[in-house]
Amino acid sequence: MKVALMGLPGAGKSVVGRVLAAELGVPFVDLDDEVSREAGSEPGHLIDSLGLDAFRAVEHRILDRVSGEYDGLLALGGGSLDDPRNAALLRGWRLIWLRPSLTTLVRRLSGDDSRPLLRGNLGVRLDDIDLRRRPIFARTAEAVFAAEAEPAAVAREVARYLQEVEWVGPGVLWGRGSRHHLGRFAPGRAGAVVAAPILRQWGTEISRALPEVPLLPFDDHEGKKTLDSVRELYRWAADQAFDRTTTVYAVGGGVTVDVAGFLAATYLRGLPLVDVPTTLLAAVDASIGGKVGVDLPEGKNLVGAFHTPRITAVDPEFWASLPGSVLADAMAEIVKAALLEGDEALEALEEMAWPATPEDLEPVARRALAVKMAIVEADPREEAERTYLNLGHTVGHALEQATGYQLSHGQAVAIGLVAILRYGAPDGRQDGLVRRVEQLLVRFGLPIYSEVSPQRLLQPMGLDKKRSDGGKRLVLLERPGHPYLAAATDQDLLNLAEQVIAE
Ligand SMILES: NC(=O)c1ccc[n+]([C@@H]2O[C@H](COP(=O)([O-])OP(=O)(O)OC[C@H]3O[C@@H](n4cnc5c(N)ncnc54)[C@H](O)[C@@H]3O)[C@@H](O)[C@H]2O)c1
Ligand SMILES: [Zn+2]
Repeated sequence: MKVALMGLPGAGKSVVGRVLAAELGVPFVDLDDEVSREAGSEPGHLIDSLGLDAFRAVEHRILDRVSGEYDGLLALGGGSLDDPRNAALLRGWRLIWLRPSLTTLVRRLSGDDSRPLLRGNLGVRLDDIDLRRRPIFARTAEAVFAAEAEPAAVAREVARYLQEVEWVGPGVLWGRGSRHHLGRFAPGRAGAVVAAPILRQWGTEISRALPEVPLLPFDDHEGKKTLDSVRELYRWAADQAFDRTTTVYAVGGGVTVDVAGFLAATYLRGLPLVDVPTTLLAAVDASIGGKVGVDLPEGKNLVGAFHTPRITAVDPEFWASLPGSVLADAMAEIVKAALLEGDEALEALEEMAWPATPEDLEPVARRALAVKMAIVEADPREEAERTYLNLGHTVGHALEQATGYQLSHGQAVAIGLVAILRYGAPDGRQDGLVRRVEQLLVRFGLPIYSEVSPQRLLQPMGLDKKRSDGGKRLVLLERPGHPYLAAATDQDLLNLAEQVIAE
């Protein structure tokens, strides 16, 4: 594990760090100690004798060396993150912010004059440093701990957090029971938009994890993914006097994370966002990749923004209460992700028990999430690879529109996946694959054909908003794990549409 403790001087990074490392059974490095060893005198003396810039240069050199291959716990210096180059070195690290109150810091530090930056009126100096560093800590920290208690108690708390909440990618956390740690993801004020069914079922636990955070119940069906809902959220944010530092928690399925995410993307030109996906689909798809937005009467997802959550915290235990049809819908996207990943991913799905418990689903969900994370990382703005995520969606979106959204998105995508595979395999090359995918989807309770006439799909297919530069493009699969883009003529689209009919 790569974990770094950060915080103001006196926060307890070194003392807590030592106990925490022992508790976790991992090595411990204290950056200030390393600097002292290498430079031959303590950070305070170095700053006095060489000046702050020279000290920061030494510190950066050591962090550069230490951060690379080191695997363990690291206590940062109080101002290590003032240097943006250090923040870059720590990308991929879990940054834990120890944040006692200023009163506690003053008590701990009074009488200690080894810190040049704190000389003079201690309270005033600390306040000033806190005001300057807080935005940096708030932006970079994964989790915040009050750190008021004895070092051993703080260490135990952090250890429990690190053991229960796993890091699966930048800003993406995973853990059964991670909902109990939600309060740690907002460095200051916050407000939570919570899907109404989640509030009914998990409300007590959520309010316990987010004490003092106002919770807004959100009536979360697709019909509510509108600008009117967003306006209501704006009003709520204004009533609660949200400021630029207020974190928005989006707790619910894809509809909730899309709408609350749009609030976070736009209110006061952008607020920090924490996604707490409660459906399988939101966990592997909607809360990854930073797309947020709402529908218009003219079409789905037409208004939106890119706004990546600070943290996405997946708790698979939420899935236990999901209705079967909602679970099945997510499986369509998970099959799609497996097709993009490769053969082994498909095999894992074939071997998974069905009906599946959250435990059965976890490994395949993590794979699907990894596929989406990798694709989004390679192409955050959907200029190239990200388009692959639309596999099966040209027909899928058209079917949703042509049936007036009688088919769910997952059902439409299931039919769309089979259609694109059949279309791409006129010579039977992929026949075996088509059969496998059909069997999987049927097993998950998803449809694979439709009675809608292909003619009715043409217009919605031609108007697919996902096309760029005027041409129509399809995502095809050479074989599992090997998607590619191909230009499509009207005749191609007709051929594709015809594949939705059963053989
Ligand atoms: N932004 C993106 O990148 C992205 C990607 C994929 C999908 N989406 C969007 O996501 C939406 C679909 O997501 P969804 O399938 O999560 O739909 P959803 O949010 O409508 O949730 C489905 C249903 O499950 C309920 N629910 C949520 N969590 C529950 C739980 N733990 N237990 C019991 N019931 C629960 C909800 O109240 C709702 O009735 C669509 O609007 C789609 O456009 C967005
Ligand atoms: Zn989809």
